[in-house]
Amino acid sequence: MTKLRTEVGALTLEKPGMVASGIMDETGPSMERMLRNGAGAVVSKSVGTEPKEGHSNPCFTEVEGGLVNAMGLPNPGIDAFAEEMENATRCGKIVGSIYGAGPDEFSALAGRMEDYGACAVELNLSCPHAKGYGMEVGTDPAMVKAIVGAVKSAVSIPVWAKLTPNTHILADIGRAVQDAGGDAVVAINTLKAMVISPEFARPVLSNRFGGLSGSAVKPVGVRAVYDLRTVLDIPIVGVGGIRCWRDAAEYIMAGACAFQVGSAVLTEGVDVFEKINRGLERFMDDYGYRSIKEMEGAAHE
Ligand SMILES: Cc1cc2nc3c(=O)[nH]c(=O)nc-3n(C[C@H](O)[C@H](O)[C@H](O)COP(=O)(O)O)c2cc1C
Repeated sequence: MTKLRTEVGALTLEKPGMVASGIMDETGPSMERMLRNGAGAVVSKSVGTEPKEGHSNPCFTEVEGGLVNAMGLPNPGIDAFAEEMENATRCGKIVGSIYGAGPDEFSALAGRMEDYGACAVELNLSCPHAKGYGMEVGTDPAMVKAIVGAVKSAVSIPVWAKLTPNTHILADIGRAVQDAGGDAVVAINTLKAMVISPEFARPVLSNRFGGLSGSAVKPVGVRAVYDLRTVLDIPIVGVGGIRCWRDAAEYIMAGACAFQVGSAVLTEGVDVFEKINRGLERFMDDYGYRSIKEMEGAAHE
């Protein structure tokens, strides 16, 4: 499958699809399983300094075209995550996703992920349902620049910033990542959303609002990648609503050099990557694309 090989800056992936943070990536065995099922890399669950329980149930509900979740970043904390990372990194490439409240916390967590063998670190600057974290720090370009700059000085592995679509200044945030020396941007995290039960006359999720993912968000993600491509020179990783090779091709043609799949691992099954890989290869053969690089940004021409 050399045709599918791609580069996210200095990082080479044999296959362009990665498991998005938060799905089948909380333990070493689940990450290994995804690597064995056609993923080019796995992005770990976002991990913080201390263990976090997350929001109480219900924290997940299905809607037409997707899912709305407010997990609240449940994770065992960076210390307890060492063993999971060390096991999984023996089987393939793991990107360590982390969240923090500011530059110092992000830098310390990134250093630990590097020690654990992560091939890159992904900064969660975009979760829409965790107070004091995620998009609360990721919608201020000055804060984003400070965080990315601090992490870049703390580690030697590539630093990716995962961005939120819940902003009208996405391009400014992308530029802040690039100006601070960030190696790539990842777009998009979930869209802030709410579901109400008419019978109970209240929001379904315990946290009231959550984040929409799945097919419904794909056009928003594709547009975000397209917009970012027009202002950035650093690589872009596309994520949001990818279920099949056509969806992946849209992101690549919008300007992404690689992509991530989240909800579809749950709705389509763990063989979703194998199917996407086969479909992409067939499409590339039929339409004369010799590499992902040749497809990248094709919709801009
Ligand atoms: C259940 C669930 C948990 C998630 N947890 C995280 C997380 O810990 N960190 C993060 O950056 N994104 C998280 N996300 C967002 C996904 O990584 C992805 O950006 C988003 O769901 C859009 O992609 P998709 O439509 O393929 O799911 C989560 C999404 C879901 C559905």
